[in-house]
Amino acid sequence: MKTSGKNKFDLDTPCLVLDLDLLETNLRKMQDAVNRAGKNLRPHAKTHKCSPLAQKQREAGAIGICAAKVSEAEALVKAGLGGILVTGPVPTPGKIKRLVEILAVDPSLMVVVDHREGVNLLDAALSERGLSMDVLLDVDVGLHRTGVKPAEALELADYILSRERLRLRGIQAYAGQVQHIRSYDDRKTASHQSLQEAVPLFRELEKKAETCTIFSSSGTGTFDIDLAVPEVTELQVGSYACMDAEYLDIGSAENDRQFTSFGPALRLLTTVVSTNQKGFVTVDAGLKSLYRDGGTPKIIGSESGMTYTWFGDEYGMVICPDPVGLPPIGTVLELVTSHCDPTINLFNQFYLIRGNDVVGVWPIDLRGCSQ
Ligand SMILES: Cc1ncc(COP(=O)(O)O)c(C=O)c1O
Repeated sequence: MKTSGKNKFDLDTPCLVLDLDLLETNLRKMQDAVNRAGKNLRPHAKTHKCSPLAQKQREAGAIGICAAKVSEAEALVKAGLGGILVTGPVPTPGKIKRLVEILAVDPSLMVVVDHREGVNLLDAALSERGLSMDVLLDVDVGLHRTGVKPAEALELADYILSRERLRLRGIQAYAGQVQHIRSYDDRKTASHQSLQEAVPLFRELEKKAETCTIFSSSGTGTFDIDLAVPEVTELQVGSYACMDAEYLDIGSAENDRQFTSFGPALRLLTTVVSTNQKGFVTVDAGLKSLYRDGGTPKIIGSESGMTYTWFGDEYGMVICPDPVGLPPIGTVLELVTSHCDPTINLFNQFYLIRGNDVVGVWPIDLRGCSQ
């Protein structure tokens, strides 16, 4: 189906659109902030799962791209992207084999490690292939999901340094638990406290090994806060490119009620398909096209105060304080999604728009890469 030249409201729904003007502004704002702080940006592809978007981030100045899983890294390298950091530990033989296969194609690949077991398996697999690999020590700074406890980190770092095939390049300290704290000041305090748990370790590693130059950290909610931490060398932010309702609802440095740093480049288009009931209309986007976690989708430009409510797998309900303001059948509404990452993972493509014009399509080629 030819889409370029169409008006966005003529697209078949539900579908995802990316507003290129907003996207480019988001990419530029983040890159400018990182450049001003004299740090690096390695944005996370787990958000958008789209190699053309990752390419755009690289063109804007990113030094590489983060991947959550090995299969995402495979797809990114296949698309010609370099400087990939896998931000989750890979402790099983099958996955390590896949990781080493990617490394054979792209020696710039990095992975985090957080346990001796994984370190041993990786070192052995590399030895078998006659390869060496850059690794970061994943340090748990309060999320308690992955990462070595700060008190045990130095011991593991020494162990990594003793391995023949591993080059310890520094640490990863991702404080996911603080990213959506509503108050900017509270978030600032919480992020500082979390990152300080890893700072003495990083200072020690810098002294121990000249290869230890990377302190990778941060998410969209704390990007500006973490840029002020002298030890942090690079950001692994993800959501800032697309944005979602969950992030737009937290405070920012400029406005304590709204996150104004980045705009909602990602939108979901949905059509009013039934108006037979009193007090609401039914739209064609439900749980199968909008991930429920992270709040409620927001209807853009609704002067009459329309709101979206969950209404099953395939449908949503739109209500309005004055039902006279409800839209007629066939109306296309534009929503900011509740949580961008898992919503994007429900679609095969982004339609690219400038104003109301559809100007292209990008595949969500990392979709389903969950392994
Ligand atoms: C390890 C890691 N780093 C970075 C990010 C990016 O965070 P955000 O999307 O809040 O920018 C995530 C997101 O979940 C993550 O899991």
